[in-house]
Amino acid sequence: MAPGAARCAPALPALLALLGALLPGLGEAQVSVHPREAIIPRGGSVEVNCSAPCSNVGLETNLNKTEVASGHNWKTFRLSNVQEDSSPICFANCHNQTSDSMNLTVYGTPSLVELAPLPRWQPVGENLTLSCQVVGGAPRASLTVVLLRGEEELSRQPAVGKATQVNATVLARREDHGANFSCRTELDLRPQGLGLFQNSSAPRQLRTFVLPETNPRLSDLRVAEVEREQLVECTMDGLFPASEAEVHLGLGDRRLQPTVTYKGDSFSATALVKAHAEEQGPQKLVCEVMLGDQTRTTREKVTFYSFPAPNLTLSQPEVSEGTVVTVECEAHAGAVVTLSGAAAGKPASRARVLLNASSEDDERVFSCSADLEVAGQVLRKTRTRQLRVLYGPKLDKKDCLGNWTWQEGSTQTLRCKASGNPTPELNCPRKWDGAQLPIGDLKPVKREIAGTYKCQAKSSQGEVTRDVVVIVIYHENKLAIIILVTVAGVLGTLGTAAYLYNRQRKIQKYRLQKAAEAAALKLNTPATPP
Ligand SMILES: *[C@@H]1O[C@H](CO)[C@@H](O)[C@H](O)[C@H]1NC(C)=O
Ligand SMILES: *[C@@H]1O[C@H](CO)[C@@H](O)[C@H](O)[C@H]1NC(C)=O
Ligand SMILES: *[C@@H]1O[C@H](CO)[C@@H](O)[C@H](O)[C@H]1NC(C)=O
Ligand SMILES: *[C@@H]1O[C@H](CO)[C@@H](O)[C@H](O)[C@H]1NC(C)=O
Ligand SMILES: *[C@@H]1O[C@H](CO)[C@@H](O)[C@H](O)[C@H]1NC(C)=O
Ligand SMILES: *[C@@H]1O[C@H](CO)[C@@H](O)[C@H](O)[C@H]1NC(C)=O
Ligand SMILES: *[C@@H]1O[C@H](CO)[C@@H](O)[C@H](O)[C@H]1NC(C)=O
Ligand SMILES: *[C@@H]1O[C@H](CO)[C@@H](O)[C@H](O)[C@H]1NC(C)=O
Ligand SMILES: *[C@@H]1O[C@H](CO)[C@@H](O)[C@H](O)[C@H]1NC(C)=O
Ligand SMILES: *[C@@H]1O[C@H](CO)[C@@H](O)[C@H](O)[C@H]1NC(C)=O
Ligand SMILES: *[C@@H]1O[C@H](CO)[C@@H](O)[C@H](O)[C@H]1NC(C)=O
Repeated sequence: MAPGAARCAPALPALLALLGALLPGLGEAQVSVHPREAIIPRGGSVEVNCSAPCSNVGLETNLNKTEVASGHNWKTFRLSNVQEDSSPICFANCHNQTSDSMNLTVYGTPSLVELAPLPRWQPVGENLTLSCQVVGGAPRASLTVVLLRGEEELSRQPAVGKATQVNATVLARREDHGANFSCRTELDLRPQGLGLFQNSSAPRQLRTFVLPETNPRLSDLRVAEVEREQLVECTMDGLFPASEAEVHLGLGDRRLQPTVTYKGDSFSATALVKAHAEEQGPQKLVCEVMLGDQTRTTREKVTFYSFPAPNLTLSQPEVSEGTVVTVECEAHAGAVVTLSGAAAGKPASRARVLLNASSEDDERVFSCSADLEVAGQVLRKTRTRQLRVLYGPKLDKKDCLGNWTWQEGSTQTLRCKASGNPTPELNCPRKWDGAQLPIGDLKPVKREIAGTYKCQAKSSQGEVTRDVVVIVIYHENKLAIIILVTVAGVLGTLGTAAYLYNRQRKIQKYRLQKAAEAAALKLNTPATPP
């Protein structure tokens, strides 16, 4: 039985399959297979029952098969380690050869689901291609590939071909910075009575960025003095994410350590720059901004100069009135000086003024400025010196008026001040009693201050005196008050006397009347004892 069937097996199945396909009704009537369709996991096993009208039945397949049961007209085979789809054929040699085939479908989840690496940095507003590779997975007709941003589905496509690459294009946005992209396969075997099998790739995080085409702004420092710290600032707007921008500031070959502050979509980097005397001349200041995989650079030329302030000298800083003072100013060669008080002359790097010191020149400030042109910019440095002139003391009419005449009780201000350098000491005793002149606000003026004072101003430069007369007018007012008081007194006395006299007279008149009435009563009343 079996040996014969096995011998003709190689050529037979194909022929029978063709026959079965062409004449399905014929095969079916002869041999039957159960189940007619089966879906099993890859590497799994299945039992197939072949039955025929006669006893001579067999199963034609490349798969490992073992006979597990049999009857007189049927056989049950176990097909194991099934790796691929196949169509085993049941055959029987009754009167003639007949056969029937079944479809065995293998299913399995993909062995690889991987999202291709994303660019290290993705510019916002540019298309990003996501590519998902899927290896394995069967049956392919039931396999779908889904591309995801976080939980959001971006695309859903069927997996076709053996090894599949599924692509999707998305426009990169700011909000995609930090977003996780992934892909997922879905093997939907629910129609076959099995479940939905999902496999996901490892997520990949995207970093998006915006770096404007414009270069960063560098503080407009065209000239700078050596040995002096200068603040340099580099700023840029419209970056995203600004905090991830790397900023470098440099002077020549030197790297500066900037302090970078971020605010919204912009940053500001500041650093202190100091060049040494030997670095005089033009230098390059560089600000470099790196974000994503791009760089923006601004270079600026800075000319470092050395320009000391001019030397301004006075022949003597402190002189007595009438002394000739020399004021001299000298600057850096190439600079042009302007000395206050000097007549305008030819532009030169030095200037000079001679001066016969007077009291007006005390505390006079001389200033000398030097102008130097560096890289098209005019720089100015100024020095000042103050002259001290010793003079005085002075106590003339404008300092201290000699005659003051005031009404008593009025409000006045008595001014008397000696001028001079050094400031003189002023002493004003009254001639007859030595009382001091009451300098300052008088409210009110009292007659006691009247008199002649002898003011003396004294300093290391000498002394001067001046008489000050203070007259207080008061007598007219006093007389009027005395007269008024006297008149009032006299009138008051007269009035009181008249009143008292009148009153006394009335009392006497009343008493006389009362006495007369009492007398009349005594005469008219008869004596009636009780
Ligand atoms: C195989 O099929 C035949 C005919 O339909 C049946 O009689 C037999 O019981 C089946 N065997 C098994 C193990 O199901
Ligand atoms: C069939 O089974 C035998 C033993 O179980 C094994 O050695 C052999 O490799 C298998 N063949 C196939 C094609 O699976
Ligand atoms: C096989 O035998 C059946 C009857 O058993 C017959 O109907 C059929 O025509 C035969 N087929 C061939 C190809 O001879
Ligand atoms: C087996 O698969 C083939 C091709 O897919 C199909 O034509 C045939 O009808 C299937 N057979 C059964 C019994 O389902
Ligand atoms: C795919 O998912 C299944 C469960 O759905 C799991 O058993 C299998 O290991 C997964 N395959 C891979 C490659 O992760
Ligand atoms: C991005 O791709 C879409 C189609 O996939 C296209 O219409 C669009 O012009 C592209 N945009 C850019 C900025 O390349
Ligand atoms: C998907 O993109 C890759 C490159 O990323 C390309 O090689 C491949 O052909 C693309 N596949 C499809 C189906 O467009
Ligand atoms: C993306 O994944 C990383 C790590 O897997 C996680 O820390 C991060 O929060 C995720 N981002 C988003 C937007 O979910
Ligand atoms: C300085 O000025 C004073 C007064 O104006 C005068 O008496 C004196 O001679 C002058 N001195 C010189 C050196 O010109
Ligand atoms: C100013 O004076 C200093 C010290 O006396 C000297 O070293 C310097 O050269 C002078 N500067 C100028 C511009 O003459
Ligand atoms: C003050 O005034 C009187 C008279 O008005 C005058 O005789 C006297 O010279 C004056 N004295 C001074 C110091 O001006």
